[in-house]
Amino acid sequence: MVRVTSERVISGRVPTGRTKQPVTVLGLGSMGTALAAAFRRAGHPTTTWTRSHRRGPAGTADAATAAAAVAASPLVAVCVLDYQAVDAVLAGELTGKAVVNLTTGTPEQARVLAARVVERGGEYLDGGILVTPPAIGSPTATVLYSGSPDAFQANDRVLTALGAARYLGADPGLAALYDAALLGIAYSTVTGFLQAAALVGREEVSAARFLPYAREVLATTSASLTAVARRVDSGEHTGLDARLDVRLSAVEHLVHAGQVRGIDTTILEHVRALLAQAVADGHGAADYSAVIELLREP
Ligand SMILES: NC(=O)c1ccc[n+]([C@@H]2O[C@H](COP(=O)([O-])OP(=O)(O)OC[C@H]3O[C@@H](n4cnc5c(N)ncnc54)[C@H](OP(=O)(O)O)[C@@H]3O)[C@@H](O)[C@H]2O)c1
Repeated sequence: MVRVTSERVISGRVPTGRTKQPVTVLGLGSMGTALAAAFRRAGHPTTTWTRSHRRGPAGTADAATAAAAVAASPLVAVCVLDYQAVDAVLAGELTGKAVVNLTTGTPEQARVLAARVVERGGEYLDGGILVTPPAIGSPTATVLYSGSPDAFQANDRVLTALGAARYLGADPGLAALYDAALLGIAYSTVTGFLQAAALVGREEVSAARFLPYAREVLATTSASLTAVARRVDSGEHTGLDARLDVRLSAVEHLVHAGQVRGIDTTILEHVRALLAQAVADGHGAADYSAVIELLREP
């Protein structure tokens, strides 16, 4: 049976009644194993293959070769260490296949791989997984996708087995771009919390005791981003809650508090340097959002 999209034919069984679309997962590391288990739990006949030939989760079928695994399903999910490894495992005939690459990489790598998959007759979707393996298939999981609109439309219901499936657009690099940007927020935030915990820890305040206050500040900061985004997009860094030069003075105190307690204040010193530069550039009366100009052109 075949499913016809506007541009290409995706071969395989159409989900009817109790028969769900078969899925292949290449790569059975922590994430690949979680992906295969989630597809299996959602009722998709799931074929797996991994370089080390370890067995897939219960109920999945282990293929003898990567090419045999690819041949087994119209939808081929790949989740290995890096793009070099994707090249190594994406074997065999891709005509009529939808390849969903969930391996972390750069937008540039995603665009190059997408072109190669299309040359080989397949359709390409890139995926950015925003959670760790235990959350895959749970209501808290979100996966970002970009690439072939036809492949997404044909497979979005299958992909919801992994979590909420958010489609960003036809450019295959978008998922990796958003993934990098979002991970940047996550790493900066957690590092900021660790630095705060180190600071209060010097005065015998535990991280657990401090946590509710950190959560409140994060909630307030999150709410303020609506105005920040508006200012970034308009380039009008006005309508402020506090002037940049006032904030610079506050950051001086934060750096001092850390330094006298002997903790690493590198991140705050960098924030101080950005604010000082913005003030020196004549933006002392502007909103904090004006710092984006320095981040855009360091
Ligand atoms: N773990 C997470 O929390 C998380 C979250 C979001 C995204 N990701 C992304 O998911 C991808 C996989 O992560 P993971 O946590 O599953 O890593 P992992 O547990 O280390 O598994 C790595 C996988 O890559 C395969 N592999 C490595 N080098 C290879 C090569 N040269 N040729 C063929 N296969 C190769 C391994 O195969 P064998 O073991 O069979 O040799 C294994 O299946 C990464 O791109 C990661 O950034 C992970």
